[in-house]
Amino acid sequence: MFNNAGIMHPQDDNALNTEEKIWNLTMDINVKGVWFGCKHAILAMRKTGGGSIINTASFVALMGAATPQLAYTASKGAVLAMTRELAMVHARENIRFNSLCPGPIRTPLLMDFLNTEEKKQRRLVHVPQGRFGEAIEQANGALFLASDESSFVTGTDFRVDGGLSAAYVTPEVTFKSKIIPLSTEFIDYLNADGIYLPTDGQPQAAATIEELDSSDEDDATNDITQENIPHFPQVEQAIRQAIDEFGGAVFPKLNWSSPRDAAWITATQSLKCTSPFDVYLLLKSSDFINHDLNHAFDHCQQQEPTNISYNLILRKWHDLQPSLEFRCFVKNKELIGISQRDLTYYDFLLDIQQELETKIYEFFEDHIRDGFPGTEYVFDVYVQQDRQKVWLVDFNPFDTTTDGLLYSWNELLTFDVNNQEPEIRIIASTIEASEIACNAPRFATNMVPKDVIDLSDGRSIAEFAEEFQRAMALSATHLDDTDDSD
Ligand SMILES: Nc1ncnc2c1ncn2[C@@H]1O[C@H](COP(=O)(O)OP(=O)(O)O)[C@@H](O)[C@H]1O
Ligand SMILES: [Mg+2]
Repeated sequence: MFNNAGIMHPQDDNALNTEEKIWNLTMDINVKGVWFGCKHAILAMRKTGGGSIINTASFVALMGAATPQLAYTASKGAVLAMTRELAMVHARENIRFNSLCPGPIRTPLLMDFLNTEEKKQRRLVHVPQGRFGEAIEQANGALFLASDESSFVTGTDFRVDGGLSAAYVTPEVTFKSKIIPLSTEFIDYLNADGIYLPTDGQPQAAATIEELDSSDEDDATNDITQENIPHFPQVEQAIRQAIDEFGGAVFPKLNWSSPRDAAWITATQSLKCTSPFDVYLLLKSSDFINHDLNHAFDHCQQQEPTNISYNLILRKWHDLQPSLEFRCFVKNKELIGISQRDLTYYDFLLDIQQELETKIYEFFEDHIRDGFPGTEYVFDVYVQQDRQKVWLVDFNPFDTTTDGLLYSWNELLTFDVNNQEPEIRIIASTIEASEIACNAPRFATNMVPKDVIDLSDGRSIAEFAEEFQRAMALSATHLDDTDDSD
């Protein structure tokens, strides 16, 4: 007998706001319903010599939540107490009673309730396995309790919760991050032409190169009205809070990509952001961000989903050593190869090659294989210098659009999981490194001429704009000179 029916009423709230009729309705269904179910099952099982009764409770009957649904929680607590007592009363009649305590399950109901990525992540930090449960996993729990395989199991609070109710500190698999939902107005700002930046004590808003180009006699900054300057107090506050909480610096990302191609534009030539200004500048200058906003689904077979919600992800900044970043290829849920990411020769890597392979493999087994829903994918990791910990950095498609690094895609696509052994590939000499370096530099299409970068070196955007204008004027005079001499 599986007493699984129950409700969680949308108007179920805290002690002050929950109406009595919601309380009574919840208790009637979730507690009295289970009692009646048990009563009739006991009568039937007595005639047939015994059986197993499973009552669905919940993990909230074991631990408190700061998001109250008081009637529901109380009703599930009652299910636990009732089930335990029934188990004692009927133990000698060969009728077993157990409560099933599901953790959060990826049901449409819960996913509608946790309707933003931020809300989902807020829950998932508490789940040691790092994911929501699946309905089939509850069904298998109930199946065990219903079957004779559990013949000596009675009176338990049987938990199928990914370790949730046993958790104090959960494992960290990736860098600490904050998810900031972005409004359509903010997306419009990112899509709009021109780089207008907040004033917040940073250099004044600068004009874009195109505007400087086209400004003959007008002062280009005249075009910048108050309206152009972005004003998103909520986003700005959230960015400031994340920077504070993460010790002063963050690494920004949108849903899929980071603005890596725009690092050249910042004073530090990196993605290290210490103010909302830094974040805005990178997002506005990046083609990769534009790709996320407007072309992310260009090569997908499925239709582009409508209503994509965009989020700004801010990760705690870590000074990562490029030599310890690795890319891992997964096929049929098996790790088939690992490649060094920064294709430079690092002699120390050769000495620790075996250790690195073992560490990354263990990380895959412990955290990725059963946690990630795909069967074919690529993931990037960072191995801490002391090799005590591996961090997840990113996921990529198992496809030629992802750089295979020291693997060719032909090798990866034809890799025979059953007959070939995975390996870790590391550059073994400077000669090998220089052979590889003969390939085109990365992001060549996103780059600006070196002269422009030299001008920008170490300057704020406003200074850079001035310098750029001066350089342009200078080259124009030179051109005039040459014209004359022609
Ligand atoms: N929290 C961080 N702090 C510093 N650098 C980071 C951080 N996260 C990622 N990086 C660096 O940025 C690179 C790109 O990050 P990734 O998450 O893969 O973004 P993308 O979507 O652009 O591929 C990583 O390979 C790593 O070198
Ligand atoms: Mg990446």
